Amino acid sequence: MSAPDYDPKQVSLLSPEQLSAALAAGLAGFAAARTLDELAAAKTAHLGGHAPVSLANREIGVLPPAARGDAGKRVNDVRRSLDSAFESRKGALEDERDARVLVEERVDVSLLPGTVLPGGRHPLTTLQERIADVFVAMGWEVAEGPEVEHEWFNFDALNMPADHPAREMQDTLWLAPEDSGVVLRTQTSPVQIRSLLARGLPCYVVAPGRVFRNDALDATHSPVFGQVEGLCVDEGITMAHLRGTLAHFAEATIGQGLETRLRPSYFPFTEPSAELDLQCFNCRGQAELQPCRVCSNEGWIELGGCGMVNPAVLIACGVDPERYSGFAFGMGLDRTLMFRHGITDIRDLYEGDQRFTLALGTEG
Ligand code: DAH
Repeated sequence: MSAPDYDPKQVSLLSPEQLSAALAAGLAGFAAARTLDELAAAKTAHLGGHAPVSLANREIGVLPPAARGDAGKRVNDVRRSLDSAFESRKGALEDERDARVLVEERVDVSLLPGTVLPGGRHPLTTLQERIADVFVAMGWEVAEGPEVEHEWFNFDALNMPADHPAREMQDTLWLAPEDSGVVLRTQTSPVQIRSLLARGLPCYVVAPGRVFRNDALDATHSPVFGQVEGLCVDEGITMAHLRGTLAHFAEATIGQGLETRLRPSYFPFTEPSAELDLQCFNCRGQAELQPCRVCSNEGWIELGGCGMVNPAVLIACGVDPERYSGFAFGMGLDRTLMFRHGITDIRDLYEGDQRFTLALGTEG
């Protein structure tokens, strides 16, 4: 084998001095790095594409084949030393960082949460509960019924026969198939029937809940709204009991200091029937003195329907109308809330805007 005619030591980048200078600079650079970012920058400087050791590596290719082995070994030794110095510094810096993060980002899981969760109870819910509370205080019970109801409970048993206009498609949301006989309840009155059948007599129940009608959603209509139903059936119940109970209810919930009145009306399930009106809280019935926008100068606001339970309803529930009598009432809650709080758009009650719920929800 002939001696190399080219001395690799003459390529300055590959000279042992240059290479050991590159090694020393790299080791110093890695050791000096105090953070992982600084270490990454040092890696680029000492092991990156333009680092002395990389440039030296590129020179090997231009050497005569006989000289390559020796030069390549020297470059590789340096690179390996730099690689391992880098890795060990990286490991040390990562350990340091982990230890620091564990201290700095320590979480005390035993601490109580410092923030109050946003959200509030819905005004319809709080109003329903306030009304129920008034009746519970008089010894009544709270009753519930299903929102998906059979037409017999929603209509027939309530003396609303098959040809009753309220059963028509435009009012009632029927569940498929067409002849299923199942509806989304249009009123809370079916809870009267369920209560009489399930609870027996005497029966004093109040039933808050959601009802559904085939109405498009606009500022004054909603396909879903809240009602509260009441029913009392006992021996010797007269219209005087109805009058006194509803007057107390109005006084205790929404109509403090305001008068109520009964106005003749018609419902199939009560006879006689009446509308319960509350004196307008805005003009206090003085609309003739000063125009009132709340009650459209009526002086009164309609709260709901009521009446003496129709004997046909008692008979449908197996109750003897000769011995028992009762009264019932049903009130829409949405309009009452809107009057009370000056809400002009019913959609505010159903859009779930927390600002609205928080402003009105807790007070009812
Ligand atoms: N269910 C009636 C409605 O939705 C309201 C009603 C009126 C209920 C008179 C009653 C009542 O219990 O006696 O319009």
